[in-house]
Amino acid sequence: MTQIDTSPLAWLEAVEAQRCQAGLRRALRPRPPVSTELDLASNDYLGLSQHPYVIEGGVDALRTWGAGATGSRLVTGNTALHEEFECALAEFVGAAAGLVFSSGYAANLGAVVGLSGPGSLLVSDAHSHASLVDACRLSRARVVVTAHRDVDAVDAALASRDEERAVVITESVFSTDGALAPVRRLHEVCRRHRALLIVDEAHGLGVRGAGGRGVLHELGLAGAPDVVMTTTLSKALGSQGGAVLASTAVRDHLIDAARPFIFDTGLAPAAVGAALAALRVLSAEPWRPGAVLWHAGALAQICAVSTAPQSAVVSVILGEPEVALAAAAACLDGGVRVGCFRPPTVPAGTSRLRLTARACLGADDLELARTVLTDVLGAARR
Ligand SMILES: Cc1ncc(COP(=O)(O)O)c(C=O)c1O
Repeated sequence: MTQIDTSPLAWLEAVEAQRCQAGLRRALRPRPPVSTELDLASNDYLGLSQHPYVIEGGVDALRTWGAGATGSRLVTGNTALHEEFECALAEFVGAAAGLVFSSGYAANLGAVVGLSGPGSLLVSDAHSHASLVDACRLSRARVVVTAHRDVDAVDAALASRDEERAVVITESVFSTDGALAPVRRLHEVCRRHRALLIVDEAHGLGVRGAGGRGVLHELGLAGAPDVVMTTTLSKALGSQGGAVLASTAVRDHLIDAARPFIFDTGLAPAAVGAALAALRVLSAEPWRPGAVLWHAGALAQICAVSTAPQSAVVSVILGEPEVALAAAAACLDGGVRVGCFRPPTVPAGTSRLRLTARACLGADDLELARTVLTDVLGAARR
């Protein structure tokens, strides 16, 4: 008699086999405390995650406030440290107020869901980060996804709407290809149609704009009443957590209405202390963002990528997942860690190596990158 597997999770095996066959199996690899490889994969753009002053900021906060936030800030109280950081970050990027969340993911959920909702329209770029996609799904708003960086499509979606309220969502720097969004034109369209613009500056903060103040600051849109910025503390600031930067009215509304703020334990004090210290380093050392962009240019040249990078991200499209995976593995064998993005993170047929430039790369690092990447990409593109 054939045995029927009655386990409710029997389907996992078949699904895993499908992922393996499509080259989409993901594996967790060990990471030592200090990398022995050249790191061209992390989002630690400014090299602050290991900066002694930043670590000290985290340790001080841990000693003063304890290991955890002990509850939602609405339940167990608001620390002076969280408030100090929110004010400092808001002042740095040119916003009136800031509100910290436990991750950039949660900040996007909080801002998008909290500022849209049933009866409103959300217009989102096709390349929006998963956290923005999930926020759209949770919002119960009508959602229109427009082609990548297509301002005319956004214009058309806003013009033909029945809803009174509308929100347009974009990243300022797209995480997968490092391209800049047409933020100024999007803002003009939003103004014309009385729509709110939410800009995710996860990859803009610390890299673009004067001293790393972000794309909105660079365009003179920081603090605009119809623009809300979200960001993460886990990339250029080398810590953990996320934030929404906006008017005090938006901050007050999110404290009342954003479920990822209300029903989530406050951001751990150590993460806030480290992020605050990182912000101080960034303010005192405004050369860091320029160094990131310079190194991104050098990496693009090494990889024969024709478009000059506008951010820390250099995207090298190789096509099928197996080709990108093999190239990433060969880089690692050569001592260079690079990111490898496959579907569903990127569209089918555009699997790629994703290299990230960091402020602290030296001449030796670039030499190693040149030797390894020239070889690996030569083989992958053959
Ligand atoms: C564009 C963008 N937004 C949001 C996030 C989420 O940030 P966090 O990692 O802090 O949750 C990321 C992280 O990869 C991102 O790339």
